[in-house]
Amino acid sequence: MNIGGKHYTTIWLDGSDPETVKIIDQRALPFRLVIEDLRTVEEACAAIRDMHLRGAPLIGVAGAFGMYLALLRSPRGREAAALEEAAAALVATRPTAVNLAFAVSRVRAALGSRAARGEMIAAALAEARRIRRDEIDFCRRIGEYGVTLIEKTAVRKPREPVNILTHCNAGWLACVDYGTATAPIYRAHDRGIPVHVWVDETRPRNQGARLTAYELGEHGVPHTVIVDNAGGHLMQHGRVDMVIVGSDRTTAAGDVCNKIGTYLKALAAKDNGVPFFAALPSSTIDFSIRDGVKEIEVEERSQDEVRYIEGFHGEAIVSTRVTPERSPAANPGFDVTPARLVTGIITERGVAEASEAGLRKLFPEAKGYKD
Ligand code: MRU
Repeated sequence: MNIGGKHYTTIWLDGSDPETVKIIDQRALPFRLVIEDLRTVEEACAAIRDMHLRGAPLIGVAGAFGMYLALLRSPRGREAAALEEAAAALVATRPTAVNLAFAVSRVRAALGSRAARGEMIAAALAEARRIRRDEIDFCRRIGEYGVTLIEKTAVRKPREPVNILTHCNAGWLACVDYGTATAPIYRAHDRGIPVHVWVDETRPRNQGARLTAYELGEHGVPHTVIVDNAGGHLMQHGRVDMVIVGSDRTTAAGDVCNKIGTYLKALAAKDNGVPFFAALPSSTIDFSIRDGVKEIEVEERSQDEVRYIEGFHGEAIVSTRVTPERSPAANPGFDVTPARLVTGIITERGVAEASEAGLRKLFPEAKGYKD
């Protein structure tokens, strides 16, 4: 996607040094564009854990490249052990998004029984690149299927913008390109369908205000940032035509785990008859579980993300406390929206009903059901 008119993806292999992985360090956005080099698996783990990069599909791709870096830097003769250590370290960085475990296991499977160092490194790199390509392709196709939903709404209100509410950042910055929730929006905008996006700021880290607003702005998509509590009010007044969010893990039964606050939007949408869609690639579906509330581990993040807020002041990104010094805070990173509140799941194979039957119909080959 575009930044200042130039095409970027969020992660790529350095063209002149194939031992370096390049990423956009999202901690500096929207204030500065910082490109960071990752040369070791430890750097890849830190980048995922400390959220230099984030978003379920992107942390999966970063995990795959992390496996490649681990092999590259492993002492001779210790390749297999280094790979096992790297897999465990990478998967432990962030527990909720299933894409990470999925990508790491894809790299392991691609190595098969290879034992020669050169072959292992080449196979890991090839698989990481394939996962990256797949994620781009999944998101592009999510855009193609999702735009039909926006089109249908546009037909009902000619010459008026379709108002879409989104939460967190499920844009290209959370993926490699296009985004999941944003892919249908970009496609609609590019086709000349008038769209306007309500962007939840998404406390505590403000991925909506900082990242979604930034990327929509760079692409020229009309949008308005709102506080997280405004969505219900806007829905009551007919100012939201649909909600589209992303997901970090979706169960075989269609329960959607996403950034904290998503569930409340789904409840408000249900009460107001507003369609609520989740857009996600198959790499986000965990076919081994059904009940998202009971079975998904929700990441608990630092209290300080709630107690402090970051902004740009002068030439620096500064952090300031917004709570009384001694008040404790709690910071669950995600919540689960039960399938009954989800109108449809937009995937790379089409729009599925949010149910086991709906997902099975699109992904009949998927393994991992606990039958
Ligand atoms: O904590 P984050 O910023 O990694 O959370 C990201 C989200 O919740 C996104 O909505 C989700 O990963 C989907 S990204 C296409």
